Amino acid sequence: MDYYCVTVLVAVLLVTVGTHIYLVRRRGRGGGRCVPPGSLGVPLIGHTLGFVRSMRANRVDQFFRDRISRYGAVSKLSLLGRPTALLAGPAANKFVFFNPSLVLGRAASLPHILGERSLLALHGDDHRRIRGALMDFLGPEMLRVHVGRIDAQVRQHLQDSWAGRTAVTVHPLMKRLTFDIITALVLGNNNEVKGALDRDLVNIFEGAMAIPVNLPFTAYRRSILASRRARLILQGIMRDKKARRRLQEEEEDKDDDLLSCLLSMTDNHGQQLLSNDEIVDNTLATVVAAHGSLAALMTFMVRQLADDPDTLAAMVEEHEEIAKNKAPGEALVWDDLSKMTFTWRVAQETLRLVPPVFGSSRVAVDDIEYKGYCIPKGWQVFWVADVTHRDPRIFPDPAKFDPSRFSTRMPACSFAAFGAGPRMCPGIDLVRIETLVTMHHLVRNFTWKLSGERNTFVRDPFPSPLHGLPIQLRQAAQRLS
Ligand code: HEM
Repeated sequence: MDYYCVTVLVAVLLVTVGTHIYLVRRRGRGGGRCVPPGSLGVPLIGHTLGFVRSMRANRVDQFFRDRISRYGAVSKLSLLGRPTALLAGPAANKFVFFNPSLVLGRAASLPHILGERSLLALHGDDHRRIRGALMDFLGPEMLRVHVGRIDAQVRQHLQDSWAGRTAVTVHPLMKRLTFDIITALVLGNNNEVKGALDRDLVNIFEGAMAIPVNLPFTAYRRSILASRRARLILQGIMRDKKARRRLQEEEEDKDDDLLSCLLSMTDNHGQQLLSNDEIVDNTLATVVAAHGSLAALMTFMVRQLADDPDTLAAMVEEHEEIAKNKAPGEALVWDDLSKMTFTWRVAQETLRLVPPVFGSSRVAVDDIEYKGYCIPKGWQVFWVADVTHRDPRIFPDPAKFDPSRFSTRMPACSFAAFGAGPRMCPGIDLVRIETLVTMHHLVRNFTWKLSGERNTFVRDPFPSPLHGLPIQLRQAAQRLS
């Protein structure tokens, strides 16, 4: 190649890169319109590295708080290669949760990892249809029949992994328990595939908050591959279930796990309501969404109770009162859970201070306006739970752990641990059941002390105590069987 060609090539390259940067930054300035204050940082990289670093160091809340104190409750930055509007406060949460021009699914990595037909990648009619099918299973009417089974699983877990020990590490145990419960609910008792799925989940999570670069050796790539393997496993289970369903046609006793329920749902023409891909993608999405978040909640409740004798005593009283009316070893039922109001407030207060989902993003599909600022089409919009959760105007003395806050109503969208609106967490009833049942047996059977430091945890992306929260354990009673 002669000197002339090289010069032309370099010039073309410079013009292309320059034009790209100009267009991205012009889009970032809203093409001259009044976009929120702030900066978009270094071209292409923006604030992504700082954001990912702050996640790992558990300073992500501080990362957002710093920008809010600098630019106010509406600002701009650049995350994961996109200009982003950061909105904070209950009104902003409401704006994001209910705005039809803001859709989930194109910006974050997770929807891509979980599959094209997963709830998280869809919007509009498809989202409504799939969410409706999932809610048929995850709503209280259906879940109430599973309380006894969850009770048996929790007792078995405590008997196998806690009873008779003087020390345990809480977080891995809570992950094991929540994984066993969700896989049994979603797949039935399919023990041989659980191990494989468990290994893949770790990799799927790693990519969830990674920069979405699909190149060898990136966390994102590992995640995509793990998700592909997990989907193959689920496709195999689905084929088996379909074959068994044909045999079970005449039998009364049909499988009642999520995958079987989704397979049995039909539309007005008697056709399977969800396609095979939709069933597989959403079964995986449910397992992934259910697993880490709930384990984090229960782990941080254990941490709180270790240092908070008043809260613990009030919980023990509540659970002893319920146990008084039951025979030894009798399983908890749905009505027992409705009497555990204080324990649920403890869970909510834990979620307020350590929200497992610190926030998430949407993408604007139209130009929209918020508080006089233009958010151009294609921008990402980010909401953050923690900032609202620590607002002293809504939660006085916000650093104090005080479950009684949840005995009164609070302004809409100020407690955002489960989101709100059409994307609100569909797993909230399952969270309630698992948390209440587990706490019932834990506080009645064990007492514990923290072995390590209290205030050390990272986000991976869910909050995880450093070293997994080791505790010294004492079995207070033998009431698990
Ligand atoms: C303490 C535990 C949990 C917390 C804090 C939590 C939090 C959340 C939040 C904040 C969202 C909304 C995100 C947004 O608006 O961008 C969400 C969505 C979701 N959650 Fe949960 N979640 C938990 C447990 C579960 C469980 C147990 C399941 C499944 C059984 C589940 C399944 C889902 C699904 C499928 C979505 C997507 C909903 C949609 O896009 O329509 N979550 N969760």
